[in-house]
Amino acid sequence: MNSDHRVIALIDMDCFYVQVEQRLQPEFLGKPCGVAQYYTWKGGGLIAVNYEARDFGVKRGMRGEQAKELCPDFHVFHVQEVNGKANLTRYRDASADVFRVLNGNFKLVEKASIDEAYVDLTDDVQKLKDENFPLTINDFSTTHLAGFTTKTEDERIEILGKWLKDCQLDDEQRNLDLVFGAYLVERIRKKIKDETGFFCSAGIARNKILAKLCCGFNKPKKQTVINQTDVDHVFDQTPVQKIQGLGAKAGDRVMELFQVEYVGQLRKYTLDVLQASIGEKDGYWLYNLVRGIETAPVNSRNLYKSISASKNFPGKSSLDTLDKIRTWCHNLAEEVFNRLEKDRAENKRRAKLLTVTCTLNTNETIARSCPINEYSIDRFANDTFRILKQFNKSPASSNIYTPAIISFGIGAGKFLENANTKSIVDLFSKQTTKTETIKPTENTTRCQEYEDYDDDDDDGSNSEDKILQKSTVTVPIQGDFFRKFQKTDEQIKPRPKSETKTTSSIVSFFSRYASNENIPICSPEKSSEHCTTCSKCQKSILVWNMPEHEDFHYAHELQMEENRSNSMIAPPPPPATTKISKPVKRKNEKQKSNIQTLDSFVNKKPKTE
Ligand code: CTP
Ligand code: CA
Ligand code: CA
Repeated sequence: MNSDHRVIALIDMDCFYVQVEQRLQPEFLGKPCGVAQYYTWKGGGLIAVNYEARDFGVKRGMRGEQAKELCPDFHVFHVQEVNGKANLTRYRDASADVFRVLNGNFKLVEKASIDEAYVDLTDDVQKLKDENFPLTINDFSTTHLAGFTTKTEDERIEILGKWLKDCQLDDEQRNLDLVFGAYLVERIRKKIKDETGFFCSAGIARNKILAKLCCGFNKPKKQTVINQTDVDHVFDQTPVQKIQGLGAKAGDRVMELFQVEYVGQLRKYTLDVLQASIGEKDGYWLYNLVRGIETAPVNSRNLYKSISASKNFPGKSSLDTLDKIRTWCHNLAEEVFNRLEKDRAENKRRAKLLTVTCTLNTNETIARSCPINEYSIDRFANDTFRILKQFNKSPASSNIYTPAIISFGIGAGKFLENANTKSIVDLFSKQTTKTETIKPTENTTRCQEYEDYDDDDDDGSNSEDKILQKSTVTVPIQGDFFRKFQKTDEQIKPRPKSETKTTSSIVSFFSRYASNENIPICSPEKSSEHCTTCSKCQKSILVWNMPEHEDFHYAHELQMEENRSNSMIAPPPPPATTKISKPVKRKNEKQKSNIQTLDSFVNKKPKTE
């Protein structure tokens, strides 16, 4: 399929956690509100803020009390706590409500995070086109066009009216599919609102990157379309780091290497130069991207890759006795168990691997895994305890645990799809009498996060004594990262065309920086007692955000992989000199439209809906 003919939407819920709380307590609808972590210092750190409060300058990361100073009517909801730890079940359940609507209406839906999804609308658009589905301007009551600023509703209608007419009249029909896509997204957003009570925003474009970019252009309760013919104009004003995949370090490097600030400025580089500078695949990806071409597919993926629970124990709260550790092994095991049971019922799958990650007060971080043979709180807790005991340096007779644990988490992953839920226990019951061996591997200082295990040899056979030593591969995060970074500094320089040669980089340019992309991080101060350091990106993350944070990494990594593999099969790029057609009208440019004629837009058939 020619990717240029796809229609992709990114749907993102507006101030999601706040809406979830307001749905439970509707008396707060329309009032300035936020969701805070625990009831700690100065009213807790805000992790979500609604738009009424944003108008007063309240931002994510502020303290509840700070918000009240800016906005005296500000109401703070608090994240639920279970066993003394934040629990996100309420938001996950609300997310499932939204995904139920999306999955019930579209075939290709990809969960991008707890509150956003990509939808491939190409086939649905084609159906509407085939039946000459009639549309009027009234079908686009919340639609905006990227690159056009409108101050009033009249201006918006005028620009939109012109757009509808132009799209219809364009012989090449470069943007017409997007009109139908925008219509479908208007409809699904209304359906989401009707069925869940939640408002959302959306971006509609020819690919995922453009859809994600423009989704944020007109929030909340609105949607934005990027016409393929307006990409150059939009990119001329788009800072490099706004592009998914070019945030944080990757974006910094691109800006530095090519001495650019805006995406559009990259158009001046030839394919040869880009490839010679950042590698063959990434150069090719970037070359196409800056011309509005990107082929990463929307993958039907709605499930979390791992289910985990973690908690920090800073300072005096560190776990320094076996009793305390046993208690927390049980608490975290219980949370993971409850979520796994729910997941098993809903998604007909079961996790095969349990991973325990733990940071000691020596700052050593350890990760160990063992197979999951049955879903059982006691089993999870015992396995976790057994793993943690391996790092205890106190005499076996003592209750003291040294070095004390300052953070630990349990994660279940490596899901086996279509698992026969009833047979799970049966499947392993014969084996449970065997003694399980959980061998410590070499003593590591820092270990790779547990989502990265190679699954190649994992056939679901659940051998009792299967020790996944791979899971504890040592990754000296800082050393390697910075060495690589420094090397990159020297090696990657744009070379004049005459010097260029194609290179085949084993580690692709972007994947080296991928882990620092648009990932939700702990915005309250880094020293926050409820933050933990993500082993992938070194960012400080609220512990209860770790499951979603991990999913962000997963989604991002998957996308980067897709980007790379798709850049291999992408259509050949146009020569660097190819001129891409400019939009007809620009920002603030008044356009005349005859709204009455729009009823005849697309088709003359009377509307039957
Ligand atoms: N989230 C979080 N910490 C972050 C980022 C996100 O806990 N650093 C949670 C928020 O509580 C939020 C949800 O994930 O409600 C979705 O995040 P996001 O879409 O970035 O923000 P929203 O609050 O939904 O706001 P917006 O309307 O801007 O999308
Ligand atoms: Ca959101
Ligand atoms: Ca989001």
